[in-house]
Amino acid sequence: MRVHILSPQRAQAVDNLILLRHEGKDPFGRLHIPAALRLTLNRALAGIHHSGKDGEMIGVQVDSAGIGRLTLVGLGKPERFTLKKIRSTIRNVARQAGRNGEKRIAIGVTNSLSGAGRAWENFLLLEACLLADYEYRVYKTEGDAPRYPEEIRFVPREDDEEETLESTLKEARVVADSVRLIRDLGNAPSNDLTPTKLGEAAREIAKEMDLKCTLFGKKELEKEGFGGLLAVNRGSAEEPRFIILEYPGPKGGRKPKETICLVGKGLTFDSGGISIKPAAGMSEMKYDMCGAAAVIGSVRAAAALKLPFRVVGLVASTDNMPDGASYKPGDIIKTYSGKTVEIDNTDAEGRVVLADALAYAKKFDPAVIIDFATLTGACMVALGLECSGIMSPQDELSASLIAAGEASGERLWRLPLWDDYKDGLKSDWADIKNSGPRWGGAINGGIFLKEFVGDFPWAHLDIAGTANYEKEFGGLPVGASGMGVKLIVRFLKERSEAA
Ligand code: BES
Ligand code: MN
Ligand code: ZN
Repeated sequence: MRVHILSPQRAQAVDNLILLRHEGKDPFGRLHIPAALRLTLNRALAGIHHSGKDGEMIGVQVDSAGIGRLTLVGLGKPERFTLKKIRSTIRNVARQAGRNGEKRIAIGVTNSLSGAGRAWENFLLLEACLLADYEYRVYKTEGDAPRYPEEIRFVPREDDEEETLESTLKEARVVADSVRLIRDLGNAPSNDLTPTKLGEAAREIAKEMDLKCTLFGKKELEKEGFGGLLAVNRGSAEEPRFIILEYPGPKGGRKPKETICLVGKGLTFDSGGISIKPAAGMSEMKYDMCGAAAVIGSVRAAAALKLPFRVVGLVASTDNMPDGASYKPGDIIKTYSGKTVEIDNTDAEGRVVLADALAYAKKFDPAVIIDFATLTGACMVALGLECSGIMSPQDELSASLIAAGEASGERLWRLPLWDDYKDGLKSDWADIKNSGPRWGGAINGGIFLKEFVGDFPWAHLDIAGTANYEKEFGGLPVGASGMGVKLIVRFLKERSEAA
C-alpha cells in the first residue's frame, strides 16, 4: 500500500474516510478537517449514534465532497489508546476496506498516543499504515492474497505542519522497509535462509545503502579463532557466516564521535544439537536468527536516516544440528577472547556464538554495544510475550534503552546481572560453562555474555518472547515481528539530540 498525507487544502477523492476516534462528542477531534467538510460529514451522520466507545463501529454513505463513505471506529477513552490497539485497528480496517474493493482510503486518529512528541507519534501511526498489509506469502502457490487498498491517505491534525509531516513520512517509509525486510528474513524457512543466504542478504543491503560488508566463512573464522561459532557449526551441513555490516556515518558530514556496535544472534535453526529439543514447537526455531535480523535492519535504517553515528552490525550465524561431528556436552572450546568454555548443554548455543561476536566488537572501540538475541525460553516465562529482557551493568544505558522501548512500543524490562550469580556458571575444567542452574535462566545467559564484553558499556536484549508470534497479535502479523529497528532508531535519535 502506498501511504500519503491527505492535504486538507486540496480535495482528494477517497472511497472511505476512516476515523479512529476517542470517546466523546466530536468524532473529528482535532483532525484537520475543514469546516465545510465537517458540515457535510455531520449531515451524513445525522440521526446516527456513535459515541466512540471501544469497539463501536459504523459506516455511513456520504457520496459528497469526494468522500464515498465515512467509517467511525471507537477506541474508547483517550487515555486507553495504545499503539497496539491502533495498529491492530488500522490493519483490520485496511483489510475490511480491501474486501469492500475500496482503492483509496483515508485514516485519521483523533487522539495523542503518548508523551513521546507529536512527530514521533505521527511516525508510529504512519509506520502502522505502511505495514498494515504485511503478509509473508513467498511459498504460497495457491489461494489469493487478501486484498488491500492501493493507497492510504493519512489525515493530519490541525497542529501538524505539512513539511514536517512529509519528512516524518519519509522516515517512516525507511523504517517500515527495514521492518518488512527483517520480517521476511525471520519468516523464511531455514532450508532456504541458510547462514550463507543471510550473509548475501546483508551484502545486498550494503550495496543498496552503500555500506561496507565483510563476510567471514569457515576459513577466515578458523584463522581468526572464532572457536565458539565454529563449535556450534560443527554439526551443520552449512557453512557458518560472521557478518560485519558497517555504516560509517553520514556522507560528507563530520566523522561521527561514537561507534555503536550492534551484535546479533543468527541461528538460522536451533534444534538444540546433541542436547536436542523436543519435537513439539521445534519449527519455531527458524526464528532463532531474529536478533541478527534486528541488527541488519537497524544498521540499514540508521544509514538510510543518516544518523550521526558509526553503526557496526556484527552477526554470528550458523544452525545448531545433531551430527557425528557435533560439539557435545563436556567438550571444552576456546573462544575468540581466549577464554575457554565447557559445554554443559549444546542447546545453550546462542551465548557461545555471541561470546565470539561480543569479544570481536572490541576492535571497533565502541561507545556502546547492544546485542539482540532470542536467547532463553526463561525470559519468556519471566516477562511474557510483550516485553523483552534487558540486562546491562550500566544504569544510564539501561534507562535510555528502556525509554526508547517505551516510546517505540518495543518494551524492555530490566533483569539484574549480580556478580554472585556467576557462581552458577563455574566449571571444574574450563574458565566458565555455558549453562547453569535452571532458575534465573535469562540472567544466567546475560551473566555468561558479560564475561566476553570487557569494559565497554553494553546491553543485552533477550528478545525470545517478542521476536515472533504464533498468531497475529496486537497488529503484528503472524510470524516475525520485526522487533528492534524502531527501538534502535529511537535510541539513536535521542542519543544524538542529547549529545
Ligand atoms: N533459541 C533458544 C531460546 C528460545 C526458546 C527462543 C524458545 C525462543 C523460544 C536457545 O538457544 C535455547 O535453547 N536456550 C535454552 C538455554 C538453556 C539450555 C540453558 C533454553 O532457553 O532452554
Ligand atoms: Mn538453543
Ligand atoms: Zn537458540
